[in-house]
Order: sequence, then structure tokens, then C-alpha cells
Amino acid sequence: SVELSLRPQTLAQYIGQSKTKENLRIFIEAARMRNEPLDHVLLYGPPGLGKTTLASIIASEMGGQFRTTAGPAIERAGDLAAILSSLEAGDVLFIDEIHRLPRSVEEVLYPAMEDFCLDIVIGSGSEARSIRLDLPPFTLVGATTRAGLLSAPLRDRFGVLSRLDYYTTEDLCEIVKRTSEIFDVEIDEQAAVEVARRSRGTPRIANRLLKRVRDIAQVKGEDVISRETTDQALNMLQVDQAGLDHVDHKLLLGIMDHFRGGPVGLDTISATIGEESQTIEDVYEPFLLQKGFIQRTPRGRLVTHLAYEHFNREVPGRE
Ligand code: ADE
Repeated sequence: SVELSLRPQTLAQYIGQSKTKENLRIFIEAARMRNEPLDHVLLYGPPGLGKTTLASIIASEMGGQFRTTAGPAIERAGDLAAILSSLEAGDVLFIDEIHRLPRSVEEVLYPAMEDFCLDIVIGSGSEARSIRLDLPPFTLVGATTRAGLLSAPLRDRFGVLSRLDYYTTEDLCEIVKRTSEIFDVEIDEQAAVEVARRSRGTPRIANRLLKRVRDIAQVKGEDVISRETTDQALNMLQVDQAGLDHVDHKLLLGIMDHFRGGPVGLDTISATIGEESQTIEDVYEPFLLQKGFIQRTPRGRLVTHLAYEHFNREVPGRE
């Protein structure tokens, strides 16, 4: 499908995240030379930056199958044991949202990661005994929006830890152009820069916005997507000049209007604007922090002068 083809299949096709890419390229090459699986990899960072894509690239560069699951999908130790025992040598097992694995399941993962084996208990009570099964050598790739939520024993079992950062406008612009080619539409340079600039540093958002921009260009009968149409489309989608969306606005204006700019606790903000604390913390806050629109203090979240300027508002006097 077109959707799948948007995903780069090799490290060479993958745009951005140069540090992560350089490191992985070397570790993959070394593991291949030794004819060993790559060490387990933990990818962390905000959603939409390409963690799943990188994991699938690791599998194809290592020549193994790509097997994927997610923390919340594995409820019992037996579920994970079933997945692990179906692996083949050189496979990459991707566990998304790995911080949401139940503790009892995590414990099955320790010997699997460390010694490629599975300890299973047979029988119960005084009859219970444990047997150890060998697993084929495999690579676990874990992904999480927040590495801090991982238990220390789990985090310590990853050989490679890599943080993905928000993309630069230049990198996103390249991604927008690549995606346009896959969509078979022409886009003006200024238009591509505009989509890139207003995509919160996130390829998933850039590609989604590009689809809507394409719709409007198509209805207008435009051969080459123009800067003007792009601006019109993004305004329609309530994406502002800095790439902030409707929820960002609710968040910032909520703190300004109800708490004089803060500091205010996360759960209080959550109740005020009707967005889940978890979503605010994983999705919205990291970008607003990075852009300098909010600050985290021990007493809660604080909206900055920059945010007031963004909305053309006066900074309230502090008592
Ligand atoms: N499409 C989405 N993310 C991408 C990336 N990082 N590189 C190339 N194409 C992409």
C-alpha cells in the first residue's frame, strides 16, 4: 500500500536522526561481521518520530524477520512465552510501549534477553518445578515515549539506548518531498517548507498534513501544490504559524486564563481542559517544552513569556 511505502526500508533511505542512524549503522555492521544478533535496542522519545520504522529497518538490515507486539497486548507471562518460543534465529522482536508490560511479564523477558532462554514452571504446589528452554538468538527492540518509566532491571538489559529527537525543518522538508513523490503530486519548495515548519518536528504529522493539503490542491485543480494553498489548508486544520494545534492552544490558554500562567499541576490542567494527563505528558508537553512555551517546575507547569507573545497577550503581573 501507499501507506506502507511511506516507510523507508533501509537506513540509507531514512531521513534525519543522524546520531541514532550512525550508531546503528556501525553496530549492525559489527554484529553482521561476527554473525551474531544485534544487541537489544531501546528507542525512546515522543510519538511519531519513527521508532517502529527504525525497528523494521533493523530487522531488514540484519536479515531477520520483523515480529511486532506491544506492552499492553501482553497480559500474562504465557503470552510472552508463546511469542518468544515462536522466534527464529536472527529475528527482531519489537515491543512498542514497552513501559506498559506487566511486571510478571517483564520477569520472563530478563533471562530471554540475557541468556536467550525461557524459564517455565510446570505443575504447582510441591509438584512445581522449573524447566529451562533455549531460545534462538534474537534482538529485542523496545520502544517507549518515556525511558524514565522503564524499570531499572529492564533498562539495564538493553545494550543500545537511543533517543529520537524532533526533526529539523530541513529534514522534515526532505520527508515531505519524498512523500509527495510517493503520492505522485508536485509540490512547490515554499509549500514543502511550510508543511515541514508546521508539523511539530514530527514526520507522522507532516505526512498527515500533506495529505490534507493535497486534498485542497486537488479540489482547486492545482497542478503544483502552492504555498498559498498550503497555508489555507493548515489554517483550516487549525494548525497555527508555529505548528501548534487546537489541543496545544487549549493547554496554553487554559493555564493562562484559569491559573494566571501557572505554576499548576498536571492533573489540574488535565481536568480543566479535558485531555488525559498521560496524553498531555507524552504528546503535547515535550514539544511545548522544547519550543520554550512552557516550563516544568517543582510546583507544576508554567507558561513562558514566549507563549504570551505567541498569543499577543500581556504577561500578567505576578503576586
Ligand atoms: N517517512 C516518515 N519518516 C521518515 C524518515 N525518517 N525518513 C524517510 N521517510 C520517512
